[in-house]
Order: sequence, then structure tokens, then C-alpha cells
Amino acid sequence: MKEIKFIEDVVLEGRRVLTRLDLNVPLDNNAQITDDSRIKSSLKTIRYIADKGGKAILMSHLGRPNGERLENMSLKPVSEALSVNLGKNVIFAQDCVGNKVEKIIYELQNGEILLLENLRFHKAETKNDISFSKKLAKLGDIYINDAFGTAHRSHSSTTGVPKFISESAIGFLIKKELKFLGEIVSNAENPFLAIIGGAKVADKIKVIDKLFDKVQTLIIGGGMSCTFLKAQGFDIGNSMLEKDSLNFAREMIQKSKEKKIDLLLPNDAIIASSLDGNSTRTIKLTEGVPKEWMILDIGPLTSEIFCNAISHSKTALWNGPMGVFEIEKFSNGTFAIAKSLAKETEKGTLTIVGGGDSVSAIKKLGLSGKISHVSTGG
Ligand code: 3PG
Repeated sequence: MKEIKFIEDVVLEGRRVLTRLDLNVPLDNNAQITDDSRIKSSLKTIRYIADKGGKAILMSHLGRPNGERLENMSLKPVSEALSVNLGKNVIFAQDCVGNKVEKIIYELQNGEILLLENLRFHKAETKNDISFSKKLAKLGDIYINDAFGTAHRSHSSTTGVPKFISESAIGFLIKKELKFLGEIVSNAENPFLAIIGGAKVADKIKVIDKLFDKVQTLIIGGGMSCTFLKAQGFDIGNSMLEKDSLNFAREMIQKSKEKKIDLLLPNDAIIASSLDGNSTRTIKLTEGVPKEWMILDIGPLTSEIFCNAISHSKTALWNGPMGVFEIEKFSNGTFAIAKSLAKETEKGTLTIVGGGDSVSAIKKLGLSGKISHVSTGG
């Protein structure tokens, strides 16, 4: 296996240090940053590069502009926030590749900091397009990855660039998280329970697979549970189904039986025919979801079962919401999990919450301080 190099192991002085961060912060309608935790958690790596005399070339995505140049998803406000936080000018480039960017980089002095415009203004980024990865790689002499929140994405700037640059290393944020999560997972006190939710199974296949070696209870909720429910033969109506992940779901259901792992899936759900939440119903999933309806949150019975399982754990790891929690009518399940974790933390359970949406649910409820570890990573 290739040895992982950390930022302290590499020479930065005088080099163009191409650094992938996760500066995907929420912005309001006036382009004001409403939560700057991702900026704050990136500062140590940026400062270190500048202090060591490297030319810091920072890159990130913001939102999902899908290849379009959208003003409300520009990283410009982030460059201003970085300047304020670092007490130092951060130069901003209007694009992330091309001649103009290369010229700015050519003129960059040791210790100076440049932030490139949103990588996802180019469709090629999320496609992990080889020629785009090469264009990015060309901008640096060394690559540093510290985008912990994006670690689960295989995009040009995350997994593409390191293939085309001579040296790569990991920044302080990922190092800290790896160390912490590594220690937790290897020393976790049992019963160890994991709650995995969110939209897509495909994004979390590796995580789910790994968790099977660690946990006694695995809860699957959120949009991804629909694929598991379908794999068990339930009628899921118009709910999101990932056909490509059906086999994986079947394998996991089988594995849970073999390994005697308690795999908990929703029993009841809040369903609606559209996201506007005008008409919602609570159903038992054995009834089947009617044709035009979709599962948008776990139901009250499921919440109770999941929270009860949490209360019997000594270590609980949560990643991914239980429903479309941004919409009030579909937020109960996610918030119930968040509250239950906070309650159990008080009683001595080690709780870890990771991933943008789960962290944002925790924050919305003002519970950040009541969880053992809130991680920015997905
Ligand atoms: C996040 O907020 O979860 C990360 O920044 C990744 O963003 P994405 O889900 O749009 O890839």
C-alpha cells in the first residue's frame, strides 16, 4: 500500500502548493456566509503553507452549479472571509483553470494565498475528467488534500489531480479526523451502532461495507433506505430507487444475517405525492407506498425504534439525514435522531456525527456542544 504523506513531511517553500479544501459553506440570498465552520477548520493548513513560504493555491467547490457559472455560487465571498480570518490578503481568481489563472500563479510570491473560483463551474470536475484533472495538476508543484467534507467524492480535484502531480500529501484537518476516527473505530466500546442515511446508497457503499466489521447495530434511514426496502420486496411507490445498488443492498441484508448484526430499516414512513408537503400520510411500510407517492421521512414508530436502539449503544456514529429535513414536515425523523444522540451523550455514550446534512441538523437544533465529536466529513 502507498504510504500516506502528511503536510509536515513535505517541502513547501518556493513551491506552488495546489490545495483542495472543502469551502462549501452555506450562503444566504445576500451572499453572506451563514456558517463559517468549514472556513475555520481549513485555516491551519492555509497558514502553515504560507508560513513555510509556499505559494498557496486553494481550490474548492461550492454548491452544485452543475457546470454553470452561477453568481450565487461564486467563492468570492469565501475569499473575503478567508482574508479576514487569516488577517492577510487572499487573491481571488475568476476561474480555476486557463491562461489567466496560470498568469496569476506565475506572479504569485512565496507566502501568498490565491483562491480559485468554484471548481464545479466546470462540469468536468464532478465527472473526474482526465483532461480537466491534468489542467488542474499543471497549476501546482505539489498537491495537498485537506477537503475532508468531500473525501467521499471521486472528482478531478480530489482523486484526479494526484495522478498527474509528482507529490501529494494530506493536510491538518484530514490528518486530525483520520487519527480521531481511526482511534474511535478501533477502540470503540460496544455496543457500537451506526446510523446511515442520506440520499444515495452508491455514495456510502464502502462505508457501509466497512461498518459491518465493526458494529452490532446498523440503522439505515433516509432516501437510501428505499433501495434496501425495495431489496426486501416492499413496494416503494415513486420513492427514489437506485437500481444499480439493489444487489449491494441484498448482499448487505444477507451479510447482516450471517454476522448477526441488527440491521434496522424503517417500519413506517411519512409519505407525500410531492415535496410541497401539502398532503402527507403516515403509513406502515408493509402496506406498500401508493404508486405516485414517495417516502420523505421515517415515521414515528421507526423514530422510536431507532432512538431506543441508540439508547442501548455505547458508541453511536451518525451520517446522513432520515428524510428531507430541510422541509419542516419531513424533518421529525432527522431531528429525533439528533436529539436522541445529544441525550445519550449526556449519559456517557460516545457520539460522532459526520456529513454536511447531519451536522447542519445538529446545528439547527443548537446541539453541537452536546455531541462528543462533530466532524465536517462525509
Ligand atoms: C458536503 O457539503 O457534503 C460536501 O461539501 C460535498 O458536497 P456535495 O454533496 O455537493 O458533493
